[in-house]
Amino acid sequence: MIYIDAERCISCMKCVKACPFQVLETSSGKPECIRETLCIQCLHCAAVCPREAISLEDLNGTLQGDFPSLPDDFPDLIEYHLLARRSYRSFKSDPVDKEIIAHALKTSAWAPSAKNDHPAEWIVVSGKPFIQEIMDHILKYVDETGTSPEIASLYKVGRNVVTGTANTLILAAAKATSINPSVDSALALYNAELILQANGLGTCWAGYLTRMCNQIPALRQLVKLSEDCQIYGALMVGYPDQEHYLHIPNRKKQPTIQWIETALR
Ligand SMILES: Cc1cc2nc3c(=O)[nH]c(=O)nc-3n(C[C@H](O)[C@H](O)[C@H](O)COP(=O)(O)O)c2cc1C
Repeated sequence: MIYIDAERCISCMKCVKACPFQVLETSSGKPECIRETLCIQCLHCAAVCPREAISLEDLNGTLQGDFPSLPDDFPDLIEYHLLARRSYRSFKSDPVDKEIIAHALKTSAWAPSAKNDHPAEWIVVSGKPFIQEIMDHILKYVDETGTSPEIASLYKVGRNVVTGTANTLILAAAKATSINPSVDSALALYNAELILQANGLGTCWAGYLTRMCNQIPALRQLVKLSEDCQIYGALMVGYPDQEHYLHIPNRKKQPTIQWIETALR
């Protein structure tokens, strides 16, 4: 599984130290992969190797190119991007570039994931008629069961809190038996959201849609959700059609922080 190129290896043993699960050890003066079954393929061994000597079977151990150097104002920029991310519910009818979505979802895999499991499988739904079909199922279900009646009352006055006016929806599906499907899917989807918004797209988490997709059998069928999977998160996606937000809204709720400190040394 982990392949170490003996000719390139200089026996610095950085890989042995970096491995969180003691998969690598040294006996002959060179690192060796001795506990393969414990390997979570995080490739931290490759990330610390000064000789790029480590790979994963047919996969390069690391991305090509140098470690990117970040501008001095990077902390300000990333904080700005996090604060300026907003929920968009009103979109232009222009179709969303598939490549931007594919790129964002690919990048989402660099989010942390329990045991490096990355359980999310993506369902991307596009096209107004299909999304209307989804809405029709949800409105019927709301009407029949009395669940979340605000969906119907708001829809009647032109506010769709389920899909907005999006012509693209991204659903994060995962096997319920995965190690930590809800957290892993949310982290991956949030990574994707930040990339999408950095590329000029508007997004909004679609919690109603997530719940309804899991609850309504016809909807599960419509989005081709396999029986062993659940939807753990969803996004409305599109080019924003509203005026750009002029300000960052304040947050009423500040985090409560309980500091538990003991002597540091
Ligand atoms: C898990 C989750 C589910 C959400 N579900 C919906 C939804 O179904 N419909 C909707 O209009 N907004 C939904 N939102 C968006 C929130 O209303 C929004 O994030 C919040 O009001 C703060 O606004 P901001 O994202 O612009 O900061 C959801 C957000 C999260 C994180």
